[in-house]
Amino acid sequence: MVQRDVGYAPEVTAEPLDSAQIALVDHSYGRCLLRPTFFAEFYERFLTSSPAVAAKFRDTEMVRQQQILRESIAHMILFAEGKAIGRVGVERAARAHSRKHLDIQPSLYELWLSALLTTVERLDVEYTPEVGRAWRAVLAPGIAFFTDHYRE
Ligand code: HEM
Repeated sequence: MVQRDVGYAPEVTAEPLDSAQIALVDHSYGRCLLRPTFFAEFYERFLTSSPAVAAKFRDTEMVRQQQILRESIAHMILFAEGKAIGRVGVERAARAHSRKHLDIQPSLYELWLSALLTTVERLDVEYTPEVGRAWRAVLAPGIAFFTDHYRE
C-alpha cells in the first residue's frame, strides 16, 4: 500500500487505499465523462433521494452545478492521492458546506455517495464490482473531510 500524507486519519477510509484503486477510478471517471448525461443523471438521482436534498437545491442553477461537480470530483480523487491541488479544492468546498454556510448535514453524504455510485454503475461501460469498491474507497477520505469540518 502506498503511504500518503494528506492530513486525515487513515482509518476513515472504507478499506486500504492503493494506487491500483486510484487508477481504476481515474479510468472509470474518464469513461463516465464520455457519457453526456452523467451529471444530469447524478443530480436527478440525488435530488429525488430525499426532500432535504431537493430543498437545498431549490434555487440552484443546475447546469452550472453540474459543471462545478465535474471539477469537484476530480479534486476528490486528487485529494485521495495526497495532491495539494485536491486538498485546496476539497478544503474550499468543505468550508462552503459547513454549518455556517450551506449547512449540509453529515447524514446527507451517504445519499450523495449512493447516487454517485449508482450513476457510475449504470453509465461506466466497463463497470465491475471492483470498480465500485474502488470509487467508494477513493471518495471516502474526501467525504470524511467534509463531514469532519461541518462544525467549523
Ligand atoms: C463530497 C460530496 C460533495 C461534493 C464534492 C460537493 C461539491 C460542491 C461544490 C464544489 C460546490 C460549490 C461550492 C462553492 O460555492 O464554492 C457545491 C455546492 C453545493 N452543494 Fe455540494 N458537494 C457535495 C455534497 C453535497 C451534499 C451531500 C449536499 C446536500 C444537499 C450538497 C449541496 C450543495 C448545495 C446546496 C450547493 C450550493 C448550490 C448553489 O450554489 O445554489 N452538496 N457542492
